[in-house]
Amino acid sequence: MIFLLIIAGHETTVNLIGNGILALLQFPEQLEKLKRNFNLIDSGVEELLRFYSPVELATNRWASKDLFIRDKLIRKEDMIVVSLASANRDELKFFNPEYLDISRSNNHHLAFGMGIHYCLGASLARLEGKIAINTVLKRVPNIRLNADLETLSWRPTYLMRGLGKLPVIF
Ligand code: HEM
Repeated sequence: MIFLLIIAGHETTVNLIGNGILALLQFPEQLEKLKRNFNLIDSGVEELLRFYSPVELATNRWASKDLFIRDKLIRKEDMIVVSLASANRDELKFFNPEYLDISRSNNHHLAFGMGIHYCLGASLARLEGKIAINTVLKRVPNIRLNADLETLSWRPTYLMRGLGKLPVIF
């Protein structure tokens, strides 16, 4: 339990903050919108979770019986890897999914998973993300990216999405 609470709760939230700031820098009009109205952080954090999901894959699942998902047969005991990040950019679910919209409504993303293993720390992570991102923008309102987007490197992990570093100037 200690492992889960400390490890599961650390890098994930670090990634929410780093990825979230990057997403806002990539969409300056959304950054300006948030700076004009910090109350938008509630829907904003949901959108940042959707857009650059800190956890890209759910833990592995095994089918308890034969089943079809659309026309694809999944056999009993097949291992299933669910891509939360892909689901969160599903154009059948989200209008204009490649666009960051911090006021997006009905944002039913899967960044915290779903069902009985739904993230235990979701409320804490949301709170940490909101406080951290609003605080950064209030303290350094003229924050800007100090590197070309293409040169940013993502940490080489299979499960998570997080930057190695995020160079900024202000
Ligand atoms: C932005 C931050 C976070 C994200 C994106 C995130 C994401 C997730 C996801 C996707 C799962 C479900 C995995 C699955 O179904 O296979 C999960 C489970 C879990 N998370 Fe988080 N998490 C975050 C922060 C936290 C924090 C802060 C804590 C604890 C303080 C935490 C503790 C846990 C635990 C204990 C589980 C396992 C729940 C279970 O298996 O019943 N997480 N998290």
